[in-house]
Amino acid sequence: MSANKIQIFDTTLRDGEQVPGCKLDTKQKLVIAERLDMLGVDIIEAGFPVSSPGDFTSVNEISKLVKRATVCGLTRAVEKDIKVAAEALKYAKRPRIHTGIGTSTSHIKYKFKTTEEAVIERAKKAVSYAKKFVEDVEFYAEDAGRTNNAFLAKVCEEAIKSGATVLNIPDTTGYCLPEEYGAKIKYLKENVKGIDSVILSCHCHNDLGLATANSIAGVIAGARQIECTINGIGERAGNTALEEVVMILKQHPYLNLQTDINTKLLYDTSLMVREKMGMPVQPNKAIVGANAFAHSSGIHQDGVIKNRETYEIIDPIEVGVTESAIVLTARSGRAALAYRAKKIGYELTKIQLDKAYVEFLQFADKQKEIIDEDIHLIMKQINKISKIAIA
Ligand code: KIV
Ligand code: ZN
Repeated sequence: MSANKIQIFDTTLRDGEQVPGCKLDTKQKLVIAERLDMLGVDIIEAGFPVSSPGDFTSVNEISKLVKRATVCGLTRAVEKDIKVAAEALKYAKRPRIHTGIGTSTSHIKYKFKTTEEAVIERAKKAVSYAKKFVEDVEFYAEDAGRTNNAFLAKVCEEAIKSGATVLNIPDTTGYCLPEEYGAKIKYLKENVKGIDSVILSCHCHNDLGLATANSIAGVIAGARQIECTINGIGERAGNTALEEVVMILKQHPYLNLQTDINTKLLYDTSLMVREKMGMPVQPNKAIVGANAFAHSSGIHQDGVIKNRETYEIIDPIEVGVTESAIVLTARSGRAALAYRAKKIGYELTKIQLDKAYVEFLQFADKQKEIIDEDIHLIMKQINKISKIAIA
């Protein structure tokens, strides 16, 4: 594997599916898993097998179905969880057990009511036990974002000694600033013995809207895996959005960090996840929102019509969106009206356009958006006034 390849670990079916209302049955999960495999993700976190018989079955069936990606099951640092996950993953071509424990003061003191030493012991035991079943064991230090770096380094070192192949550094509560998260990854790279034999992974939540920025800071600092979900769904404000990190790396080639994602499938995959989970996406969502490639102000429309790159940094075709949209509102100008009219068969002279634009503004001031049917009406109207035959 190239040193600059960023592994994409998709957790739509685990961290994403945890969200109230997003629950999927096995059949739906299989359809999404197949699509994620096609999309080119490296790891599919298929579920938390011990959590319910339904989740066990889903992980089991996905393990049989997926031929290319690694299939991963989540566990706590608990023997029964690990044993059940191993059983669920037994048909996987490339199985991975994802086990771990909270490492921040709040987790140690209030959740487990224990000591740092006891947490390290549990981490070691969990990784060693998981190694009995699979070669590929990912260890997560839950709430690493708020964990003291020196203690985090100690836990990571012990997890490596116990056989972990990947170390997940979750910003579970979405608290870190990008500089802080990047510095944490750098600290681990510089202070953990054996760190170069494992992959460091970013798992960032979006409570402050920084999940994507933190993940990018993490890979710039040396992490080589990003954990993310389609549309950024996930606990509370969500996880890092897969489509965002993938397009950031693609649009900034000087970073020299690549993924294997077929970006042309991003939009369709986003639609599939919305539909199956019944979870809509905000219109202004980056990359896949309804307005991501829509232009509505006159100044922007004029620029885009002359040259798309004036106001677009991504060619919509690159993410599977057929074309940019010129949305007609009362803020649109003549260029946009002429452009849309031409699309539906009206080639306007300057005089016709001037007349049509006066009518257009009358319509547009009364409604939020002008659609093709309105343009037909406007053309009829100016035909009547000007007696000029149009298309
Ligand atoms: O956010 C988190 O810490 C997690 C872990 C279970 C990996 O989802
Ligand atoms: Zn999470």
